[in-house]
This record gives sequence, structure tokens and C-alpha cells, in this order.
Amino acid sequence: STIAEVAICEVGPRDGLQVEDQIIATEDKITFIERLANAGLDTVEATSFVSPKWVPQLADSAEVFAGVRHLKRVHLPVLVPNERGLDRALAAGVESIAVFVSATESFARNNLNTGWQEALAAAERVTSVAQTSGLHVRGYVSMCFGDPWEGRVPIDDVLSVARRLFAAGCSEVSLGDTIGVASAGHVRELLGRFTAEERTRLALHAHDTYGQALANVLAGLDSGIRIFDSAAGGLGGCPFAGSATGNLATEDLVWMLEGMGIRTGVELPSLVEASSWMADLLGRASPSSVVRALSA
Ligand code: HMG
Ligand code: MG
Repeated sequence: STIAEVAICEVGPRDGLQVEDQIIATEDKITFIERLANAGLDTVEATSFVSPKWVPQLADSAEVFAGVRHLKRVHLPVLVPNERGLDRALAAGVESIAVFVSATESFARNNLNTGWQEALAAAERVTSVAQTSGLHVRGYVSMCFGDPWEGRVPIDDVLSVARRLFAAGCSEVSLGDTIGVASAGHVRELLGRFTAEERTRLALHAHDTYGQALANVLAGLDSGIRIFDSAAGGLGGCPFAGSATGNLATEDLVWMLEGMGIRTGVELPSLVEASSWMADLLGRASPSSVVRALSA
């Protein structure tokens, strides 16, 4: 059967920038988000209300959100790690948040400074309060395939964490290949363990460390996934998982999907311009093949 449409969750301003040491000016972050929205992306993860001691790049989250909240027809979710983050997000006027937990103990310790059980319990509490406040809540599960400290991650662990997030009230759960080690067979195997109904509410969050991201998206499409995360220009990584490189580039994703006759609503030339502009600010060319080909 043919697939008419796929939803893209653009994570460049958040996952993309969080790893950069060079602090990008608040007004440039606002411009970046505006340009991504103008390119037709309808969900742009804008920033994180995490501890500025942990992620200095995103210390200006309230200012960034204030600068973009007027944008129409675009969802602007933000990451929230704890109750403190939720309070700050609510004060900023956000309508959509993402909580994040790990399928492994090691990454929970490194990313959230707590055990995975505690992190999951905290995410459940935040989800429930956020829902009561009328917010849309996405849940992320990190290290769904491989973990830099623990190796291959048991599928049962991923399933149980994802199902806890659904049960807590997350309307969508994004499965993170945080360090980009997944390959297509593993993606099929994991997704095959979820029910068809669950798969309609799952997203795949691919990093491209091993160049497998698009193949993994294709495996995801075959398995019934219709929501994919990517970052403009292939920005990104995770400051607490050293071996992670950039996210799947949104341009690469759009090129493949449109080539398959699947609508994304994204205007590729405007997106490439936005990514090239950000690459210039960062002083480094985009690693995306599509960005390089289209800006040549
Ligand atoms: P901690 O140091 O254990 O906690 O950090 P704490 O309670 O001792 O707080 C430390 C300081 O931060 C305190 O300030 C708090 O007040 C403050 P001090 O008293 O020292 O002046 N603080 C906050 N400030 C602002 N907003 C807050 C907040 N919370 C505490 N929300 C904590 C625990 C969870 C805060 C920390 O570990 C943290 O912020 N972690 C976030 C790490 C992060 O952002 N990682 C990247 C995102 S996840 C990711 O990239 C994966 C994903 O892309 C999917 C995938 O690829 O798999 C989503
Ligand atoms: Mg990520």
C-alpha cells in the first residue's frame, strides 16, 4: 500500500544546538526556528528547559521561546527534565513538552544524574502534571538499540520503558538511536514487538553516526512508523554520549521521502538555505549529502 504522508519532528534547534560549544546568539536561534517553520516544517523542537549548568547553550530557552511563540501553524515542543523544567516551560507559555528517559542505567546516570527507575518515575510525574495543565506530552526513550557503556540494549527493556511512558499519558513516544548504531534488522525486530496501534504513536529518532539513519527510516516505514525525527543540516549529538554524532539530516530524509512519493510539506531549497546559514554561523560545513549537493 502507498504512504501518502509522513510527519517530521525537526529537532535541529534543540538536539542540534545542545552539543555546540560555541554559544549561538538568542536572536540567531529565533531566526533559525523561523526559517525552519517558513520552509514548511510544522513541528520544530525549539529548546530545552534543562539545567543551564548541564547545557549552557540552551540557557536562553525562555527568551528563545518568547521570540518564536507567535509563529502560526507550527508546534514548538520543548524538552523538560524535571518539575523545575515544567514550571519554567509553563511560565514561558509552552503548549507541548517532551520528557526523556533512558532504556539503560548508564545513560540515565550520565544524562540525568540519576538511576533509570528514578528518571522514569520523574518523567511519569511530569507527564501527569503537564497533562492536567492541558499540555501535549511526547516521551523519548534514549539508547533503544546500543549504549556506549552497556552495548546492545535488550528489546524487552525498551518495550517496557516505552509502554510506561504511554501509560503515564505520553501521546507519542520517540525511540532514540542516541549513538546511531542501529541497523535495519534491529529496527524491524524492535518495532515488530510493538502492537500495530502502538506503532501509530511511535516515532523513530535516528542519529547518523554509522551512516545507517536512512536505511533505518526505511525499515521504520515498512514497519508502520509515520513520524520521524531529524535535524536540519544533520546538526546534533548528545553532550552526555560522546560517541553520538549528528542527527539524521532533515534534507536527506525529505529527499528520500519525496522521492518515494510521500508528502512532507517541506520546501527543500528554503531548508537547505537555513541549514547553510547555520553552518556558516558554526563555521563548519553541513555533513548532509543533500545539503552539499543542493548548495553546490
Ligand atoms: P543535577 O545536577 O543532578 O540536579 O541535574 P540538581 O537538582 O542538583 O540541579 C543542579 C542545578 O541545576 C541546580 O542549580 C538546580 O537548581 C538547577 P544550583 O542550585 O546549583 O544553582 N536546575 C535547573 N535549572 C533550570 N532548569 C531546570 C533545572 N533543574 C535543575 N529544569 C538535571 C539534574 C536533570 C537538572 C540535569 O541532569 C539536566 O538538566 N540534564 C539534562 C541533560 C540534557 O539536556 N541532555 C540532552 C537532552 S536528551 C537527548 O539529547 C536525547 C534525545 O535527543 C533522544 C536520543 O537521541 O536518544 C532526546
Ligand atoms: Mg537525540
